[in-house]
Amino acid sequence: MLSSTRISICQVRELYKKTRIDTLYSIPHKLLVMGKKIVLGIETSCDETAIGIVDSSGHILANCLYSQIQEHREFGGVVPELAARAHLARLERLLEQSFKKAAITWSNIDAISVTGGPGLIGGIIVGVMAAKAMAAYQNKPFYAINHLEGHALSPRLTQDISFPYLLLLVSGGHTQFLVVHDVGCYTCLGSTLDDAIGEAFDKTAKLMGLPYPGGPLIEQLALNGNPLAYTLPKPLIKQKNCTFSLSGLKTAVRQCLEKNNISKESLEAADLCASFQYTVTELIKNRLFYALEAAHSNLGKPVENFVVAGGVSANKYIRSSLKDFCQSKGLHFYAPDLKLCTDNGAMIAWAGVERIRAGLHPDTLSFPPRPRWPLDALKLEIHND
Ligand code: KG4
Ligand code: ZN
Repeated sequence: MLSSTRISICQVRELYKKTRIDTLYSIPHKLLVMGKKIVLGIETSCDETAIGIVDSSGHILANCLYSQIQEHREFGGVVPELAARAHLARLERLLEQSFKKAAITWSNIDAISVTGGPGLIGGIIVGVMAAKAMAAYQNKPFYAINHLEGHALSPRLTQDISFPYLLLLVSGGHTQFLVVHDVGCYTCLGSTLDDAIGEAFDKTAKLMGLPYPGGPLIEQLALNGNPLAYTLPKPLIKQKNCTFSLSGLKTAVRQCLEKNNISKESLEAADLCASFQYTVTELIKNRLFYALEAAHSNLGKPVENFVVAGGVSANKYIRSSLKDFCQSKGLHFYAPDLKLCTDNGAMIAWAGVERIRAGLHPDTLSFPPRPRWPLDALKLEIHND
């Protein structure tokens, strides 16, 4: 008879270590864990339709992407219904392109992974249903990946980074400090009370009349600006924890724009972008100080590795400031390769590789798409015969 128990992946590992049995996983699954693997990953949770193919040695065989920015630009942000339709329209062509780029066929693919959430539900349904159909038709194992886990593990695709590490996950929808204990095993130490950092970049850009997505444009304009030109607030900076709040900063930008009558082509606009970026970076460094303390007490020892990941980690100013900060604290600093910071298929494929290597079971085809899916709530369903 099939019995099902829900326990966390951390608990499974403890059980595994204590009992030293390797019978926890079935024989066919053990075969899947062995040898070099090639995984196809699909990402459709927001406005990038993406397919990546990677192998377990960290080679990216293909990382094809269709950015929907043009579709959404006139609306100043992502329109969920349009995004879902665009994923549907593009996915098949992208799949052909990926196989062509990788110069392989279905027979070389060992597993399919797909973003199962969190994100915009229409797009997630498109990706998950496509992946399920491929898995069923091609008879391949199916892995539903938490998008945030895709970001969290992305630097390990090209760099040798050992667990545990302190992660700052900064994207358009999330801003969190997490301890990454292992694949599938996370502790959230702090997050944002309101806007995510990527969202704050985008909203600030919108206030300045810049098109979506604003993050890269703010970074670009800031290159010619003075970071000390405007003094902006650093919300929650007096609190001795690693919680963020960004909405006050955005309001301050609006007031500054109104007061100084700044146009987007002016030198003042560049100064404001530089000041905003500088303030956000100072805020991150301040919060990181407390996140390191929290991670220390969570792990019972000082953290050695710090990782920043997610779309905002593509910002070179933030990367280099955090690198300097880490060096001054004797920490190893890591960030994903630039092409792996924003949403892409390779990171989803890689999370599949990590799950296979960690000996985690594939998901069943009854996996329900999850618009909300906190990273520290990842659970493993274990079936015992
Ligand atoms: O991870 P991501 O591609 O999508 C989500 O999972 O949300 O992150 C997108 C976010 C957007 O808010 C975008 O403006 C921001 O990352 N971003 C940047 C930069 N590149 C992307 N923010 C600041 N500087 C950048 N260079
Ligand atoms: Zn993302």
